Parts: sequence; structure tokens; C-alpha cells
Amino acid sequence: MGTETRILLLSSRDHQEGFDEPPSQWRRGEGHSRGPSGIARADSVAPVAEHLLETVAATPGVRVAHRSVFHPSEILAAIGDHRPDVVLNLCEALGGDSRLEVHAAWLLQRLGLPFTGSPFHALRHCLYKLEANQILARAGVRVPATVRVDSPDHLQHLPRITFPAIVKPEREDGSLGIESRSVVHDLGELRAQVDHVVHTYKQPAIVQRYIHGRELSVSLLGWPTPRVLPPGEITFHELPHGYPHILTFDSKWEAGSVDYNGTKSVAAVLRPRELRRVAAIGRRAFDVLGLRDYGRVDVRVDERGDPYVIDVNPNCDLSEDGGFALAAARAGLPYADMVWEVLRSALRRREDDAVLFASRGRSSRNRLSRPREVASRFNLGVAGATAAP
Ligand SMILES: Nc1ncnc2c1ncn2[C@@H]1O[C@H](COP(=O)(O)OP(=O)(O)O)[C@@H](O)[C@H]1O
Ligand SMILES: [Mg+2]
Repeated sequence: MGTETRILLLSSRDHQEGFDEPPSQWRRGEGHSRGPSGIARADSVAPVAEHLLETVAATPGVRVAHRSVFHPSEILAAIGDHRPDVVLNLCEALGGDSRLEVHAAWLLQRLGLPFTGSPFHALRHCLYKLEANQILARAGVRVPATVRVDSPDHLQHLPRITFPAIVKPEREDGSLGIESRSVVHDLGELRAQVDHVVHTYKQPAIVQRYIHGRELSVSLLGWPTPRVLPPGEITFHELPHGYPHILTFDSKWEAGSVDYNGTKSVAAVLRPRELRRVAAIGRRAFDVLGLRDYGRVDVRVDERGDPYVIDVNPNCDLSEDGGFALAAARAGLPYADMVWEVLRSALRRREDDAVLFASRGRSSRNRLSRPREVASRFNLGVAGATAAP
């Protein structure tokens, strides 16, 4: 029993419950473990969480539990109930607000508990598109020129904008607020779209130079040094004439729409030099913004062949048919291996902590139990951790 590695899968629930949810059941990995779902109610990442649960539970020597949370206090309760060695963090919101996703990472960080995915500060930077853009620009990473506008009445105070430009809500993802008319060609269109974004999404808009060219996604996996997985590409040539070549909300979510049917996600075919440049900018953006374990960097390549970072996605979708898993598959990694590589990254940090504590002669008893067992079972290869039989 004591040699089992305890994994708590935390996902976010979209709504509050009128009553307390009972603790979820542990699943024990016996190589064939299946059973009732353990997910009591609908939540937006429920299918991914369920699939991950099955994948992880199939590994011998692990105990895995899933809890979907709404309030931060439910995270504490889940940790108290399950006493995990590591948390697989799939929280995309708290209190039903996706902007509070960062608080889950913050809480886990404060508790000193190893968890998968990016730390608080990286999630926070990437939540605000302008903030991420400016950090990258300061670090010398090529990004499109971007300004923030909080009202259409303030357009005259902006530096000169070159057209075409794209208008996006400042703090959304999943292409929320991105539609054909987001690409604007003159001041009139710009004013109308800023007005639309500010009033619909109740937040400032950002106005960004539109990069005409190929759209590539660069996925990275691993810690401390992530590897770049073979890039994906979005193709737009099946869109009807006149549709801008962008991934709108409909193209991601509205099956059957013109945007959806006209855009395809494929493996990118790149010449060696193109691949090197795209991989390098993806790696650099990942590093500069402090991402960890896994993430996806969206890149557009202009007519001159220069890549620009347009969006950085820490804790991106890990579903089996999502872009990240597909990129891992292109690298020859089956789904379960990809998931375990993410988990191993977090478990390695636990090992590093243990080594640090030991070298300072401090007891790590409360935070870190059985690190060597974890190291040997999952072949973590951490300095100072010997493989016990
Ligand atoms: N500067 C840009 N130039 C060209 N297309 C862009 C630009 N910014 C965004 N897009 C298009 O809009 C889509 C969504 O924008 P993005 O910033 O990635 O937002 P989200 O976080 O919602 O994914 C991108 O996938 C791309 O097709
Ligand atoms: Mg994006």
C-alpha cells in the first residue's frame, strides 16, 4: 500500500452545487483497472478528465482519484481527503470564471504540492494577451505590434495603426470574440469592432498587426528541458473567397459552419530551415513566459518567412484528439506515454525538492513522503535518488 503513488486529478466544474459532493473514489492501477466514472456531474473538461483518469489508472502501482472543483476550498478538501503525491491539474476555471484558473495553480504552489503544468505566474502572463505580447517583445521574441484600447472613443490617442489589423478581446481564449469582422481594414471597421468587443465581452480590446501567412502550432513537452513536437498547421484554402484566413470561434466550435468546414488541422510540412526557425521561436516563447511540462505556441509566418508568436497556451487541451496529443503522436508518443511524461515532470520536481531539503539538512517529512519509491517506480533518473527494489 505504502509504495503506491497517489495522484489526484483536479478539474474544474462550471457550476456550484447545492450540496456537498462526497469524496470521489480512489482508483487503483492494476494494469486493467476500470470502473464507475467517479465524475458526479457535468463539467467542461469532464470528458478529458475521465479519459485521463482511465489512462493513468491503467498503470500498475498508482492510485488515482478525480475531483471536479468549483470553490478553492474544494481543492483543499480534495487534498485533505486524498493526500496525493502529485496533482494532475486540469483546472480551467474557479467559481465558474476561467480567469480564476490561475488561482488553482497558486494554491497548489503555496501548499508546496507538485502539480502538472505551468506555474501561477506563467498562467497569469498568458491570460492577458497584451502582457504576454509585451514580455515576449522585451525578450526579443518576434510578436506583432499590439495596442490596448478600452473604448472606441480613445482610438485617436493611439499610435498610428497599420491596416489590416485584428481586434481581439484582451483576456479570452478558444477564439471567443474572434469572427470574420475581427480583421479590420480601416478606421471605421476598427471603431465598430472595438465597440463590439468592449461592450460584448466587458473588457478592453487589443488591436494587433494582422500577419498574413501560414498558421502553425508548436507544442512542447517535458521538464526541465522541453522538447519541441512536430508542428501542426491550420489550412484555410477551403474557405470561400472573401473569408479571412483566421481561426474564428465558429471554426473551432461550430461543427457544420462555413468556418469549421473550411479550416483543417494538419501536420505542417516545413523545410529544415523553416522548421528550425519555428521550433526556436516556440521554445523561446515557452521559456520566456515560464511555461512548464506542456504547452502550445501559436505562430504565424509572414510572406518573408519571419515567424511571429501570436498566442501562447499553457495548460492547453490534453484530450486524445486535441492538437497537443496529435503532435505527440507525430513524435511517436502514444497517448498514455504523453500523459505519463507530463506526470513524470511534476514528480521529478518533487524529487528535486527532496534532494534540496536533504542537502540543507532539513526534514521534508510532511511535504515529501516516499520520494525514492516514486523515483524508482517511474524511473525518474533524479540525481541522489537511488532505485530501491
Ligand atoms: N496577429 C494576428 N495575425 C493573423 N491572425 C491572427 C492574429 N492574431 C490572431 N489571429 C487569428 O485568430 C485566431 C485566434 O487568436 P488567438 O490570439 O490565438 O486567440 P485565442 O486565445 O482565442 O486562441 C488565431 O488562431 C489566428 O487564426
Ligand atoms: Mg490561439
